[in-house]
Amino acid sequence: MMLDFSETATTDRQERPLFTPPCFTMAPAEENEATGLGTIDRHGGRVSVDEKRMINCRADVNQLLPLKYKWAWEKYLAACNNHWMPTEVSMQADIALWKSRDGLSEDERRAIKRNLGFFAASESLVANNIVLAIYRHLTNPECRQYLLRQAFEEAVHTHTFQYIVESLGLDEGELFNMYREVPSITDKAAWAIKHTQHLDDPDFKIGTPQAGQAFLRDLVAFYVIFEGMWFYTGFAQILSFGRRNKMVGIAEQYQYILRDESIHLNFGIDVINQIKIENPHLWTSAFQDEVQNMIREAAELEAAYGRDTMPRGFLGLNAALCEQYMHFIANRRCAQIGLTPVFAEAENPFPWMSEAMDLKKEKNFFETRVIEYQNGGALDWG
Ligand SMILES: [Fe+2]
Ligand SMILES: [Fe+2]
Repeated sequence: MMLDFSETATTDRQERPLFTPPCFTMAPAEENEATGLGTIDRHGGRVSVDEKRMINCRADVNQLLPLKYKWAWEKYLAACNNHWMPTEVSMQADIALWKSRDGLSEDERRAIKRNLGFFAASESLVANNIVLAIYRHLTNPECRQYLLRQAFEEAVHTHTFQYIVESLGLDEGELFNMYREVPSITDKAAWAIKHTQHLDDPDFKIGTPQAGQAFLRDLVAFYVIFEGMWFYTGFAQILSFGRRNKMVGIAEQYQYILRDESIHLNFGIDVINQIKIENPHLWTSAFQDEVQNMIREAAELEAAYGRDTMPRGFLGLNAALCEQYMHFIANRRCAQIGLTPVFAEAENPFPWMSEAMDLKKEKNFFETRVIEYQNGGALDWG
């Protein structure tokens, strides 16, 4: 059942005093009020919707209601309705194919292993960034509610790679160390980590324009680029196997991950755009140029990864097509955060990817079983 947000907001407006002193809900300045773990302000006023902010909010972050950002709450509800576990997907066909002598070429095995290796550590990097960097500085409880759900989903995704390793009997050390040992994967991980390291500093606070831009850089690096660009070529690789009836268990799991990740990406884009609305001074033309450069660099890193993982190409998939797909995706991401495209207009070489995102079509797509997860809504007490 959906809440009527406008009604919630209206009710709140009617019940609170007509005039709220500007500092009424502020915790003492020296307290850690942004985290929600500062000393409780026993005499503070009630939180009003108007005081809620994405960053630098001084209103109590421990109160979910009244809701301000309906999009964050809606994404939380949508995510809960998408619940799945990797162990619900049968791996029998994948195991038979993986263990067969000639079911997969050496090139295909190399691409699958590197793809799994990239995702295996990336899910942890994304989770650590949410929990240790973003959560702390995003001073809005409905966004934090979504982040808590996202953090759990990243744990489910990491679990997926544990389950795949165990099912196929892969070398866990080889797979989980690829982000350190395979240069084209390390380059991407290192590029992302450099945008979050300073946020991990306990003294880092968003208060200055420089710090606000550092936070935006982190959001761009992880939501727009890591989850919104790099993951997408990774999905395309594995789903391409699934379309040809190879590694169908992993492909099904990737479809569920893709469904989760598309909400993660859209949440990140909404967060960035809302921060821009509330803090237009951060979104300078110099900063926009910088973000466009980040997106260009990230696309080049992905192209290098494509050349490394698919040196010869297979199954209608090759490094050049993946690079074209990255340019297509990069331009879309630019548009989503209000930037002009960074690449010449590129046609989508994998139009079937948009079909893969719509799980209602899954049965036609992979001809595999459909799990109906839309079960989080209503309990029938009758
Ligand atoms: Fe994930
Ligand atoms: Fe994610």
